[in-house]
Amino acid sequence: MIEPSIQGVIARNSHPAGCAAFLRSWAARCRAPNSSSALSAGPRVLVLGASSGYGLALRTVLLQEYAARTLGVAYERGPSGQYSGSAGWHLSAAFAELAAEQGLPGETLMLDAFAPASRQTVIETIRRDFGQVDLVVYSLAAGQRTVDGRKVRSAIKPAGAPYQGYQLDLATDKLQPVTLEPASSQEMADTVTVMGGEDWQQWMTALQEADVLAPGARSVAFSYIGPASTWPLYRDGTLGQAKADLHQRAQQINAQLQTLGGGAWVVVAKALVTKASIFIPGMAPYLMALYAVMKEQGVHEDCLDQMQRLCRSELFAEQVHTDSDQLIRLDDWELAEPVQQAVDARLALLTPDNFMQYGDYQGVKQEFLAMNGFGIAGVDYSDEGA
Ligand code: NAI
Repeated sequence: MIEPSIQGVIARNSHPAGCAAFLRSWAARCRAPNSSSALSAGPRVLVLGASSGYGLALRTVLLQEYAARTLGVAYERGPSGQYSGSAGWHLSAAFAELAAEQGLPGETLMLDAFAPASRQTVIETIRRDFGQVDLVVYSLAAGQRTVDGRKVRSAIKPAGAPYQGYQLDLATDKLQPVTLEPASSQEMADTVTVMGGEDWQQWMTALQEADVLAPGARSVAFSYIGPASTWPLYRDGTLGQAKADLHQRAQQINAQLQTLGGGAWVVVAKALVTKASIFIPGMAPYLMALYAVMKEQGVHEDCLDQMQRLCRSELFAEQVHTDSDQLIRLDDWELAEPVQQAVDARLALLTPDNFMQYGDYQGVKQEFLAMNGFGIAGVDYSDEGA
């Protein structure tokens, strides 16, 4: 029997049958492929960062609603000895099974996407299995990247002044004060190296040079901007610098893909609980208040909802809609005035003593557990073979 093992905001294990049930619950919320749309005729898609969060959600929508043939890349550990294997590993296995039931490819290569050798492996796999791809989804969230033999680590820090906030401990159900010291210029630069757009651009250049991008090929990567209340922590800090770099590279990648009649966009998505976002120190109070308000106002979306909106309203619509910075904005509901006013009001009152009252702690924790395969309806957790 596998019980959840949590340390702070990190899941130390996962539940295989629970992960499969979690993915199936996403699949069940998708509608059947609509063959009347020319664009929906089985696109061939490469998903970098395919095993969890936004990448997995988009891949699921593409399979279920557009009969996509997908190749995934992720960095996950399988079971060994006492270790259950990471959630992403089991979710990827469940995805492959789901795709196979529909007679479609859905393999995930467990590779370090930052390594040049991995690009070569992926290019060869695309050539062999797909010929070319129509869409490349870049959804990596990583803490480090090896560049020319040097391990570069990202730092989640503010710029200029220290940031004081609160960090969740999901193991003890506590909210604790946290102070983040300002980033050094080296930490800024390193975070841009890990989480900026350089790697995305290298991927797109390598794929284009290898002639595995189909005519009209597109690419999307994800970003976050958030409301002013989060800017000291996010937009103005190391992660925001990295995202600014991503936005700027998107314009260059877009120009590259236009030579194929395609295009590249950054999708600004909503703040949601994922392995990556829950790890950001200081972000939890905002996430909890946001969940509470958006649910109360009936506008809450999860990763799957966001990706359905991306496909239906943008990627497979007549036209892609962007703001003046060429960004696709899926954060419009999050940033709506009534939502942010109510979030600010809650944040002004929220403390370690009352965060369960002003924030949707239960919702956040439940989502965290679910994405690791725990607490899923219909799964028999007492069955040792499950
Ligand atoms: P996640 O942690 O759920 O997924 C990250 C994926 O990257 C996983 O599939 C993981 O296996 C893969 N990965 C990490 N390092 C890798 C490596 N070296 N090689 C291959 N694969 C690797 O994260 P999430 O939240 O879905 O993030 C994806 C993107 O979405 C990020 O760019 C993030 O900044 C962005 N985003 C996230 C938001 C959120 O609230 N979660 C909001 C807006 C944007």
